[in-house]
Amino acid sequence: MLSAVTGAKSDGQRDHVDTVFASRYVKVGLPKLRMPECETPKEVAYQVIHDELLLDGNPRLNLASFVTTWMEPECDKLILEALNKNYIDMDNYPISTELQDRCVNMIARLLNAPIKDGESAVGAGCIGSSEAIMLAGLAFKRKWQNKRKAQGLPFDKPNIVTGANVQVCWEKFARYFEVELREVKLREGYYVIDPVKAVDMVDENTICVAGILGSTYNGEFEDIKLINDLLMEKNAKTGWDTPIHVDGASGGFIAPFLYPDLEWDFRLPLVKSINVSGHKYGLVYAGVGWVVWKSKQDLPDELIFHVNYLGVDQPTFTLNFSKGASHLIAQYYQFIRLGQNGYKRVMENCRENALYLRDAVEATGYFDILSKKEGVPLLAFSLKDRSQFDEYDVADNLKRCGWILPAYTMAPDAEHVSLLRAVVREDFSRTLADRLLRDITRTIDYLKKRAVVKPSELVPTRPVPAEQNEERIGRESLRLSRQKSTNARSQGVC
Ligand SMILES: Cc1ncc(COP(=O)(O)O)c(C=O)c1O
Repeated sequence: MLSAVTGAKSDGQRDHVDTVFASRYVKVGLPKLRMPECETPKEVAYQVIHDELLLDGNPRLNLASFVTTWMEPECDKLILEALNKNYIDMDNYPISTELQDRCVNMIARLLNAPIKDGESAVGAGCIGSSEAIMLAGLAFKRKWQNKRKAQGLPFDKPNIVTGANVQVCWEKFARYFEVELREVKLREGYYVIDPVKAVDMVDENTICVAGILGSTYNGEFEDIKLINDLLMEKNAKTGWDTPIHVDGASGGFIAPFLYPDLEWDFRLPLVKSINVSGHKYGLVYAGVGWVVWKSKQDLPDELIFHVNYLGVDQPTFTLNFSKGASHLIAQYYQFIRLGQNGYKRVMENCRENALYLRDAVEATGYFDILSKKEGVPLLAFSLKDRSQFDEYDVADNLKRCGWILPAYTMAPDAEHVSLLRAVVREDFSRTLADRLLRDITRTIDYLKKRAVVKPSELVPTRPVPAEQNEERIGRESLRLSRQKSTNARSQGVC
């Protein structure tokens, strides 16, 4: 019987040298489907799993994602120190609980919630914006039901009005919690909710209208102020009081710093709740989002559960019970480390780099730009000419240079528009932007050449896998199947 990676036998004899790669474990694959009978030495377990993970993409070059990929080492240290703390055990980790409360208060005030001095904000830390949206949606549904019941009216057909460009979490909310999703369709050239059409769709069963500050598809801010104004008129005419939720997953931490005069938040009378992703422009690693309500009255009391399993009365309003405390702590670190000034400077850098990319990509002459200058700092762009190759080819070939850019199609009714997206995050420097631009130009040159030259005559800019040189047989059917699987609503393009 071998004891560990050293290969030492129980009688003290050794039968081979003590390095992982000289051990017998590298001659067999790790178990995949069934838990192994015996232990694996920790050095081997680490090395082999580590090595397999080398085949994942590089998160820093993953421009598909809005989610933070770099934090200061001091914050990494705080995260590691708190990895073994279960946030829900509030009585035993009162400081962690207090740090989350401080974050809720800071966010609510940043978003202009009408909170008096000394008053506490109403909100919750979540795993991400998806959970935050489920909670906000449930609060709207319950408030609407309570009102209808009190009026003796039917309360079994709730609906919610959104743009067709909503992220998949809104569809999940609608399906999981049995709310009809009424989507305002997009059209070519107009990729966000049309406020007039949205308000037209509202009826007495509408629990809320959801506007997005920073569409997943092209980063564009929806016109929340116009939705608010039109809905106020409609409410005044009908006697309803249909409210608004703002999905600020990405834009919620951008607008306060880059566009402080833009009215989209609790300054608007009908905006009752807002979600923001701490792990996007809140600048924390994946695993934290926030929901905040304008006031106590906007969160029905019966949705808050009280448990005492952990020793004291604990109010909880989350979908999950246990979760790590480290990301909430990390959020607090970022707030005090950067302050409003630091966040503003980070966002300004992101915007400058996104605009730089925009000008340079446009200047190539090959692309139309589908993102706006104002909004989430990202570049959404599509090919002007798709006759020889398409956005999926560009994305596939950029991958060979290490870049991960998603190619996807717009939401209904603009599905025929396919596009690429590069999200500019804090850790995307001008130097990387220049590299990306060079690689985009090379990719286009390569694809143009490939379209006219026999594969055998191609001299690729980087080593090309054999299959890349094959004739473009079946390209259209491949493109269509990829379109289906890489639509921005899929979880992969978050
Ligand atoms: C507009 C919008 N809402 C919600 C979400 C879901 O957020 P999370 O990934 O934090 O659950 C996303 C994710 O990209 C998003 O872009």
